[in-house]
Amino acid sequence: MTDLFATSRESQHRSVRLIRASHLDEDLSALGEGARDLLKRGGFSGRPGQIASLPEGSGADAVAGVGLANDPQALGPAALGLAEGVWRLEGPLHGLDPTLLAISWAMGGYQFARYKTWPRQPAKLMPVEGADMAEAKRVARSIHLVRDLVNTPAQDMGPHALQDAVAALAKEFGGKSKATTGDKLLKDNYPMIHAVGRAAAEAPRLIELEWGDPAHPLVALVGKGITFDSGGLDIKPSAGMRLMKKDMGGAANAMGLARLIMDAKLPVHLKLYVAAAENAIGAGAFRPGDVLASRKGLTVEIDNTDAEGRLVLGDAIARAVEDEPDLLLDFATLTGAARVALGPDLAPFYSNDPALSDAISRGGVAANDPVWQMPLWDNYDSWLDGSISDLKNAASGGFAGSITAALFLRRFVGKTRWAHFDIFAWNPEDRPARPKGGEMLGSRAAWAMLKERYGKGK
Ligand code: BES
Ligand code: ZN
Ligand code: ZN
Repeated sequence: MTDLFATSRESQHRSVRLIRASHLDEDLSALGEGARDLLKRGGFSGRPGQIASLPEGSGADAVAGVGLANDPQALGPAALGLAEGVWRLEGPLHGLDPTLLAISWAMGGYQFARYKTWPRQPAKLMPVEGADMAEAKRVARSIHLVRDLVNTPAQDMGPHALQDAVAALAKEFGGKSKATTGDKLLKDNYPMIHAVGRAAAEAPRLIELEWGDPAHPLVALVGKGITFDSGGLDIKPSAGMRLMKKDMGGAANAMGLARLIMDAKLPVHLKLYVAAAENAIGAGAFRPGDVLASRKGLTVEIDNTDAEGRLVLGDAIARAVEDEPDLLLDFATLTGAARVALGPDLAPFYSNDPALSDAISRGGVAANDPVWQMPLWDNYDSWLDGSISDLKNAASGGFAGSITAALFLRRFVGKTRWAHFDIFAWNPEDRPARPKGGEMLGSRAAWAMLKERYGKGK
């Protein structure tokens, strides 16, 4: 990752002031008259994300609009809108959280450089007064990791590459990783992961990472790692398939959260499970009407091969609960219905534990990573009942697609304290601090919850 933060020792730096649209005259009064005039004539109104540079002697080198000052991400465009070099936030922060401001700077400064040389480097930010810069750096690195993983096309981010990425993460923080691959999945009883991925050129696998002191409470993370979702034999139309390199976005988010936990040395025992497979089409592909065995012992009739995420997750979740974790969190780009319900910004989440739900909602506010609790509506559960099997993988009727997918997962969870995030993992267009492409969503809210629950990871 390009370093977006400068140290306080850097002597050469320029200054940028935060300006509210709601208090435009008041906030601009700190500048000289010439600068104010220049800004007014240039149409500067303090709207979120607006940046303007100022000539020498203006009282600041630049201004950045923050609108109503209710969203630190308004600062996002600064890192690529201000000139290269080192910058310092000067003047009042208008109540914006200093750590979130620093994180927003780094969110906006992201450039995916694997296949393209960008014409410039992002500007660097000096430590923000009152900010926890170590936390800002951790979060920034995680966000960039998640985005890089999601943005990498399936050709370079297949099940094996995903395994390598988990192994690299384990190595960086002194954890252990391993994978159960191909036919070994059948031998070790992961039939659904195997079935979903068996038609692809690269073998499916369950990738595991373990870190931390076994005496600490066990936190299990599970991620949907479908490295490409063609839909399988129930093939997706072109428009629906176009973005499906991002179908490992749940795995990427779980890895980003694992990275935060390890980097902050949160006192937990961490186990990460990534169910990695490509949902491909081929002579060996699983079919509509097939009845799969599962790790938990439930039989699952395939109603639609495009509802593959819940299958690989079913086996991975069944494995994770065998360890009896204190907490199980799963992340998945599970349904198109979630996107229809809440759009790309808000992560819908489900939980079987009210206190955990509340903590996640609070975490979303604290981290400025909005999440929205959705109901595990018992009355819809019977829609998953199978006629020749215990359950089927897509509910009849097509109502409440995100809820029924969550209910499917619940059948594999049992009594474990659990939350499930049905995320989009993608910014459909450029917005302040949210460049088009892969995105970390929901897992920053989960991180805030974990810090609150297990303490001292700040
Ligand atoms: N990966 C998709 C869900 C998805 C689609 C996420 C678009 C984000 C954007 C998933 O595997 C899928 O295709 N789900 C189906 C389930 C249906 C067949 C029951 C869906 O949501 O349409
Ligand atoms: Zn699918
Ligand atoms: Zn999918």
